[in-house]
Amino acid sequence: MPFEGVHRVGHVGIWVKDIEKSLDWYRNVVGLKLTGLWGEPYRKDRQCFVRCEDWHHDIVFFEINKEIDRTTLDSSDTGKRHTPGVHHIAFEIPAREDWLNALEHCKKSGIPFVSGPYVHGHEAKYVEGDDTLGFVGGSGSHAFYITDPDGNRLEFYTWMMKVTKECVAAPNPDF
Ligand SMILES: [Fe+2]
Repeated sequence: MPFEGVHRVGHVGIWVKDIEKSLDWYRNVVGLKLTGLWGEPYRKDRQCFVRCEDWHHDIVFFEINKEIDRTTLDSSDTGKRHTPGVHHIAFEIPAREDWLNALEHCKKSGIPFVSGPYVHGHEAKYVEGDDTLGFVGGSGSHAFYITDPDGNRLEFYTWMMKVTKECVAAPNPDF
């Protein structure tokens, strides 16, 4: 049985060479709004959330780490490739029950998770060395990540926040 309740592609993550350059371009050409740009001490590699309207993010920029040892990169998962292009494609499952059933289906079927499941937000438990947990800039969504047959990382999430005012997950947003 396939997942039920998959509503839409909710956001995409892309690898970028220069995060300020990408932010500037998407703001000035496409008219997207900044939610937050995060790096140290919250994340080792920089990450930037931008949005069209009020959902926390519609695109996420992941800055390519130019220092990384490229011979050790895992090419079976776009989320680990550090090359320009897709990082992940995220599907929204609005109902928590459907999201939990999809998660359970993956567990029972032995579909491997490349990341998660976890709560992608400030309210989650922080684990030293794992910047995917308890990330202060996260949208509060519950998410898990698998790959398609070509290694494209797919995220399935529920409960993303909206940005209507300043808060810890959107400290200095464009409005
Ligand atoms: Fe995502």
